[in-house]
Amino acid sequence: MRIGLLTGGGDCPGLNAAIRAVVKQGLGEYGHSIIGFRNGWKGVVDGDVMPLERQHIRNVLPVGGTLLGTARFHPNANDGSMDAVLATLEAERIEALICIGGDGTLHAASKVAESGVKIVAIPKTIDNDVFGTDLSIGFHTAVNIATEAIDRIHTTAESHNRVMVVEVMGRHAGWIAVNAGIAGGAEIVLAPEEPFDMDKITKFLKHRHRAHANFSIVVVAEGAHAIPGSSMEYEVQLGKYGEIVAGAIGERVAAEIAARTGFDTRLTVLGHTQRGGIPTPTDRILGSRFGVAAVDAITRGETNVMTALRDDSVVLVPLSEVAGKVKHVPRELLNVAHALS
Ligand code: F6P
Repeated sequence: MRIGLLTGGGDCPGLNAAIRAVVKQGLGEYGHSIIGFRNGWKGVVDGDVMPLERQHIRNVLPVGGTLLGTARFHPNANDGSMDAVLATLEAERIEALICIGGDGTLHAASKVAESGVKIVAIPKTIDNDVFGTDLSIGFHTAVNIATEAIDRIHTTAESHNRVMVVEVMGRHAGWIAVNAGIAGGAEIVLAPEEPFDMDKITKFLKHRHRAHANFSIVVVAEGAHAIPGSSMEYEVQLGKYGEIVAGAIGERVAAEIAARTGFDTRLTVLGHTQRGGIPTPTDRILGSRFGVAAVDAITRGETNVMTALRDDSVVLVPLSEVAGKVKHVPRELLNVAHALS
């Protein structure tokens, strides 16, 4: 078979493990051809192909990013692009397409599947908000990076008696904030799932600094927002492409805390450090399992599905049931973050 492969949306550690697994399983186990498309859906529109052979995947397991390149481009949102996608797939004689991506890429994949293209999706995003899977590629590494950063910030917070605000990624869901907050022992965690009340936050900080300690760590997900009508009015700030403006909520939270408490307060925006560098073994293993499962599924003729991790097993879920939905942090995890503050 001729199988197409693309990585779309924001990059993350572990993508190369998935690419490697698709190529190894496809070439070695079944004798398929794997045709990579550069830069996500853009490469399919432009016919920018990169046939993948064994030499392309040598030594890529520990390397972050994606050897195929990626782009924030969705053919369903660009005039004429869906036709171009279908034309390229026909010209390249692609019999099935593996799309590795987050919400945007998977939504586009479900639209392309509606035109008769056979698709298997693989979930990746450091935000971990892809619906239908316990884990997405990249999340584990990002939590490691954010936790290490919080650990480092802890010691300087304590030395200087400061409130340290740490902004992490997470547009629609606070998975990184909550997990790294718990692992790093943050005093306060703000996630999109729970609009916050700045009055309560400052009351808590004043009490803590009077009674227990004179430093605090506040972890803020970039998509966090205040309760509408509460004392801190805040509108989520979006950039040119509808993305969240990095640092916006962190700056605002740090400024409010400093003004209301008088505590020396600093902000660290972790930004793209969370998306770069060496993937953890967990992300390499997850990428490898998803890559093998995707090729196996296509070979068996099971398509228009997404590989997913459920109860430690890799399963296939219908793409139409997961695309366009967000997986939020459950109440139990939010409660743990608050209970240990
Ligand atoms: O999609 C994952 C994500 O990491 C979001 O949390 C963040 O808002 C976004 O990517 C940043 O994207 P970009 O690299 O396009 O600025």
